[in-house]
Amino acid sequence: MRVFTGIQPSGDLHLGNYFGSIKQMVDAQEQNETFAFIANYHAMTSLSDGERLRELTMQAATDFLALGIDPNVSTFWVQSDVKEVLELYWALSSFTPMGLLERAHSYKDKTAKGIAANHSLFSYPVLMAADILLFSPDVIPVGKDQIQHVEIARDIAIKFNNEYGEIFKLPEYQVAENVATVPGIDGQKMSKSYGNTVNIFGEEKKQLKTIKKIVTENVPLEAPKEYEECNVYNMAKLFLNEQECVALQERYTQGGEGHGHFKLYLHDVIWEYFRPYRERRAYFEKNQDEVRDILNSGAAKARVVASELIEKVRSVTGIKY
Ligand code: TYM
Repeated sequence: MRVFTGIQPSGDLHLGNYFGSIKQMVDAQEQNETFAFIANYHAMTSLSDGERLRELTMQAATDFLALGIDPNVSTFWVQSDVKEVLELYWALSSFTPMGLLERAHSYKDKTAKGIAANHSLFSYPVLMAADILLFSPDVIPVGKDQIQHVEIARDIAIKFNNEYGEIFKLPEYQVAENVATVPGIDGQKMSKSYGNTVNIFGEEKKQLKTIKKIVTENVPLEAPKEYEECNVYNMAKLFLNEQECVALQERYTQGGEGHGHFKLYLHDVIWEYFRPYRERRAYFEKNQDEVRDILNSGAAKARVVASELIEKVRSVTGIKY
């Protein structure tokens, strides 16, 4: 099976990105053909500082490699190194009804928050459709917030195929049930724009400070505590096996420990979980030339697949004359 995903280089990666997408990609590598890329054109919709975008692109690539994307197994590249995607974006635009984009949640949410409604924000799902359709994936592991975008890609592919024949494979999203929406420290969806993230590669002191801010109910130390709705428990659960979950549940129901204790425990669990990844990250951080080489050869591999597909599109649309 071909498994495919992308992430935006829009800042520090957080637990939502990890469980919603990155971990699933890394796990998929063993049995599948995997394609992963850094969506730097997408990041232009919200970032206009060139130096910063350059930095964040390398940072995202370094993080992804540290977290286990294996360039010997996966095709791993930066979006802008495979320019065929922009050509496909244009070709798909003629098969994208305005209404489809007007219904896109992410556009509606962003403009409702006061972000200026420009064309790239509006047409973002078409670029994402191009990302996907260019590589004919079977499944796309994403968090719940991206489901609609994959559905839009599917709708556009159907319209194009109806006109020109079976050019595009119809993509399916894959959303892991327990991590469809990873909660942030306030219990809402974890998201950079809500300022409620726990970052994967932050400093230890900062992480502890963030964990201490997790919103919990106010109950006396001795009293038994509810774990099901507890933000600390729900975050810890992502890292624990069944036995460890049960042990934590018991600590909640016994009473005698406060949320402060559970927060310290959660901090340790997260910090230990990412320890080996931090070490790999330090290696790639020191060897940025190696990261660049990996991205260059990934782009070359991706281009082979992309150019085959774009040739078909040029041919059926008559652009190739
Ligand atoms: P991005 O960069 O915002 O997020 C990367 C991935 O992380 C997932 N995610 C979450 N999952 C669960 N809980 C959360 N709280 C959470 N927060 C983020 C996202 O669902 C996503 O899977 N448009 C995409 C990038 C993209 C892409 C693509 C993805 C561009 N082209 C083609 C797949 C295929 C985005 O902005 O993701």
